[in-house]
Amino acid sequence: MLSYRHAFHAGNHADVLKHAVLVHLLDYLRQKEKALWYVDTHTGAAGYALDEAWARKNSEFATGIGRLWARKDVPASLAGYIGEVRSLNADGDLRFYPGSAQIAIQMLRPQDRLRLFELHSTEGRLLREHFANDAPRVLVQAGDGFDGLKSVLPPPSRRGLALIDPSYEDKRDYARARAALEDGLQRFATGVYLLWYPIVQRRESQQLPESLKRMRPTNWLHVALTVKAPAAEGFGLHGSGLFVVNPPWTLPAMLAEAMPYLVRVLGQDAGADFALESELA
Ligand SMILES: C[S@@+](CC[C@H](N)C(=O)[O-])C[C@H]1O[C@@H](n2cnc3c(N)ncnc32)[C@H](O)[C@@H]1O
Repeated sequence: MLSYRHAFHAGNHADVLKHAVLVHLLDYLRQKEKALWYVDTHTGAAGYALDEAWARKNSEFATGIGRLWARKDVPASLAGYIGEVRSLNADGDLRFYPGSAQIAIQMLRPQDRLRLFELHSTEGRLLREHFANDAPRVLVQAGDGFDGLKSVLPPPSRRGLALIDPSYEDKRDYARARAALEDGLQRFATGVYLLWYPIVQRRESQQLPESLKRMRPTNWLHVALTVKAPAAEGFGLHGSGLFVVNPPWTLPAMLAEAMPYLVRVLGQDAGADFALESELA
């Protein structure tokens, strides 16, 4: 029984980091004409109304996209991301937030394909409804995204980006995400992989980045954004990280500009900080 609903979290600081990088990756990849496959192992509902009860419960977006929305000093490295959110909020009021699949469909071209996996029946139904008129360009598959990734790699065009974005409500997700990346790289070594993980006070979260580096991918980048000091009672999300395999050469510079800004604007106390490291051949 899954209880996670991304609508609670849509537009929070973790979505801001993940989606800003996703926009950068898609923007880079679409520069080449050849068809691109976008695979989302854990897709969620694709779109979120921020004034609905689910999103308002904790108003997590208020300390995420909400803090960036009205700012006039957003750096160029984040302009593409803000632009994708703006295109859903044309009148200037922040009411809708795009999920990863919505960002992808906004940015991709007719020749590109989206392969979306979602296990939760409610999210899956919303996702199918959202993309009801987009087959065969978009295929939504109910079921496990870790297994699903195997079924779509390598993509026929041999160009692809896979977002591995579990909810980690099941602690086995840490090992499964790592295994999915490792298996993906065996099937499709030149693919671009974007793996998200939560920064929480649990061993699996703290060990994941080092464990991913031990896979020794040829090209990788790790970025982490901490927005506050860990809570004294030991619970809660105080940051998030991304591990990117085969990032474009432009990503380190984009993040070198964006991260100090995100720390300043999204930081909630003196514990706010970022880490950025990469090895690109
Ligand atoms: C973090 S949310 C996805 C957010 C989305 N990728 C985005 O960035 O907008 C994770 C989603 O994975 C779904 N989920 C959980 N376990 C899954 C599994 N094994 N396979 C596919 N989906 C799963 C949850 O129902 C939830 O909707």
